[in-house]
Amino acid sequence: MIGSGYVGLVSGACFSDFGHDVICVDKDASKIAALEAGKMPIFEPGLDKLVETNVAAGRLSFTTDLKAAVAGADAVFIAVGTPSRRGDGHADLTYVFEATREIAAAITGPTVIVTKSTVPVGTGDTDVAILHDVDPGLDVGVVSKPEVLRDGAAIGDFTRPDRIVIGTDDARAQQVMRDVYRPLYLNESPILFTGRRTSELIKYAANAFLATKITFINEIADLCEAVGANVQDVSRGIGLDNRIGSKFLHAGPGYGGSCFPKDTLALLKTAEDYETPIRIVEAVVQVNDSRKRAMGRKVIQALGGDAKGKAVAVLGLTFKPNTDDMRDAPSLAIVQSLLDAGATVRAHDPEGMEIAKTMMASVTYCGDAYEAAAGADAVVIVTEWDIYRALDLKRLAATMAGPVMVDLRNVYPPAEVERAGFAYSSIGR
Ligand SMILES: NC(=O)c1ccc[n+]([C@@H]2O[C@H](COP(=O)([O-])OP(=O)(O)OC[C@H]3O[C@@H](n4cnc5c(N)ncnc54)[C@H](O)[C@@H]3O)[C@@H](O)[C@H]2O)c1
Repeated sequence: MIGSGYVGLVSGACFSDFGHDVICVDKDASKIAALEAGKMPIFEPGLDKLVETNVAAGRLSFTTDLKAAVAGADAVFIAVGTPSRRGDGHADLTYVFEATREIAAAITGPTVIVTKSTVPVGTGDTDVAILHDVDPGLDVGVVSKPEVLRDGAAIGDFTRPDRIVIGTDDARAQQVMRDVYRPLYLNESPILFTGRRTSELIKYAANAFLATKITFINEIADLCEAVGANVQDVSRGIGLDNRIGSKFLHAGPGYGGSCFPKDTLALLKTAEDYETPIRIVEAVVQVNDSRKRAMGRKVIQALGGDAKGKAVAVLGLTFKPNTDDMRDAPSLAIVQSLLDAGATVRAHDPEGMEIAKTMMASVTYCGDAYEAAAGADAVVIVTEWDIYRALDLKRLAATMAGPVMVDLRNVYPPAEVERAGFAYSSIGR
């Protein structure tokens, strides 16, 4: 497994739990040292235990030595990062191509290279060209295996996927992939073989569709507010239609995280390169970007239109619960717009504060929700962590200067918050 970040580590741990022998490689020596000492570089429920068990069983190990790990492997997975390239939004493939070159130089026998990183259409073709460039005699199949892992539910997603998409026309590579994934399709996860370019596109199409669904319900929420309708009921009303489905219909402050923002941009870039614009996704990206700061304005409005000198408690900083991932989190734009308006911000998050501190220095970080709210003029729920779902609202209100609550995740029934003495606003209700 080349790259022991979020995807590589979870995949490596799960593969070893299937009984495969796995070596997780990373360039980052501190990450490997931490893993060898049993310390997880990311927060993911259940991962530490899974790693511990499989290391103890001798099936999982960690190294910085790519050459030794690749030699003799039946399959080599690439799980390195593909961030947005600065300036144009194209996926930056530097790490993928570097890894491919290193793997090419390290291969000792027939093998299969499998790209789990999210990569634009045609990346597998370039990988093949790189391999031939390094050694025209290499006996290697190149496969696309787009990964679907949700932060916070990654182990369940890996072991019980809705589908396994495998992109290759090479019969031997197909067989290796069947062997590697056998425990999953014994569990009846459907396996879908496609061409490599199709598989590469499936990942982007799926993420763009989900980002569109979120953005759709967010705009419907705005309309609900304007016309006096309730977006939660609208979501239920349309989600119970099997053709639509209830997932990804929760109105909120906009999508974030390590995938949707960069993958929608990369899809648009591919579409532009091939002169087939996807205007619906262009709109999704624009609407989502402007929504995050609009949420800051919503808080300012709840404070009476002026946040100068006010203190705001922000509950939840990560882009969603059960992760410490702060990448493109809506909290970043919301906090910045509050600071720009002259407010001070006190924040709490169960897992994200360590990383948040490196990204937002002028925030005061607190031990829990009550400490964050003490003396504040408004409390804003940005991420729906479970611990914010059953707050003692009366206790919270009692510590606040002017109890205003802005609930950007519709966690509470309005009447309950208002009974506790808050002026309350939420999303689309
Ligand atoms: N995070 C998710 O939920 C998720 C889900 C599905 C797909 N993906 C995709 O998977 C890919 C990886 O994402 P991630 O979140 O795991 O990234 P990450 O940044 O957490 O991890 C990537 C790791 O690869 C290492 N690396 C880079 N080049 C290397 C090399 N040549 N040799 C060894 N190690 C190397 C880095 O040091 C880093 O630790 C991305 O393309 C992403 O879009 C991510």
